[in-house]
Amino acid sequence: MTKPLLETLKGNPGNNVPFWFMRQAGRYLSEYKQVRATTSSFLNFCYSPDKAAKVTLQPIKRFDMDGAILFADILVVPDALGQKTWFEGGVGPRLEPIKSVTELQSLNLANFDDKAGSIYRTVQILKDQLPDDKTLIGFAGAPWTVATYMVEGAGSKDHGAAKDWGYGDPEGFDSLLSLLVDATSHYLISQIDAGADVVQIFDSWSAALPEPAFDRWVIEPTREIVRRLRLKHSETPIIGFPRLAGMMLEKYVCETGVDAVSLDSGVPISWAADTIQTKIPVQGNLDPRMVVAGGPAMLSETSRILDGFSKGAHIFNLGHGFVPETPVDHVAALSAHIKAYRR
Ligand code: CP3
Repeated sequence: MTKPLLETLKGNPGNNVPFWFMRQAGRYLSEYKQVRATTSSFLNFCYSPDKAAKVTLQPIKRFDMDGAILFADILVVPDALGQKTWFEGGVGPRLEPIKSVTELQSLNLANFDDKAGSIYRTVQILKDQLPDDKTLIGFAGAPWTVATYMVEGAGSKDHGAAKDWGYGDPEGFDSLLSLLVDATSHYLISQIDAGADVVQIFDSWSAALPEPAFDRWVIEPTREIVRRLRLKHSETPIIGFPRLAGMMLEKYVCETGVDAVSLDSGVPISWAADTIQTKIPVQGNLDPRMVVAGGPAMLSETSRILDGFSKGAHIFNLGHGFVPETPVDHVAALSAHIKAYRR
């Protein structure tokens, strides 16, 4: 049986547009909240293969998406490298910050799989349980985005701490990115070994970097990860998501070598159809707040995106993840609308 999402990524789109949604598992689903409530620590929840596999499958059962994204988090990587990482309810991620090469010495790959091994186990369970026509998507954060959390010790608006280190001590900051390239390559290769059909690299904070910094911190590390994955698994498509990269998007696509790219909601459709979709398949770019609104506004915007990308390979998705207040019936209406569409 073919997997429509995987086929589209390989450049063989059919008449239906395959779809999945970022953050399709999560707090907008009551069945997620039920399973989530059985483990207090969010990271321990990610490290519980049976529960993580269960919540990965929940949205597929409800809405029948073409892709299932592994349930985990981008901050598994710093945690498995040995950085103290935790999630505070109502606050978000917290880490003991690393701000210098000296502090970086405490992190390494030696015991990485002691923690990451349970994520690979989740992938194996999903590989067994997922219907044959569904595509299993593994993922990791890109080095720059993960570094912003590692250096800041939390989420931040301007990534000031990471920039301060990177501008003030470029070689030192490169050593953090280089450790993340090693860890992320190993982590994604292991997910593919365990059964992931596709992987996505989330660079959520690639916005508003000056061009030399974008080249050095976003493009270079991503290109190296893509190169290493190809050596081991040349057939597995890699989706890049340089969120809010703006005018750097085309350069990102040409220079990283990703097989497909995810578009945030700010990317103009006609420009992307002409400039990006003529090179590689695209995914995106419905504003997640449209799904909070629902109704005719959501459906007409969905049609505009489907029509705008109908000439090439397109996977329907959001421009960023679902927010917790998203009504479940709006997701059902959105899914039905996409399924009814024929190219
Ligand atoms: O369904 C899926 O998309 C798969 C699972 C997934 C999660 N996080 C689960 C999660 C994925 C792919 C991620 C990626 C992720 N995590 C990113 C990149 C994508 C993006 O959103 O830009 C980032 C930046 C993170 C870091 C992160 N994790 C933050 C900032 C937060 C807190 C924010 C919040 O909404 O509370 C998380 C927690 C998190 N990761 C939750 C989920 C379902 C909510 C926590 C909970 O359920 O208790």
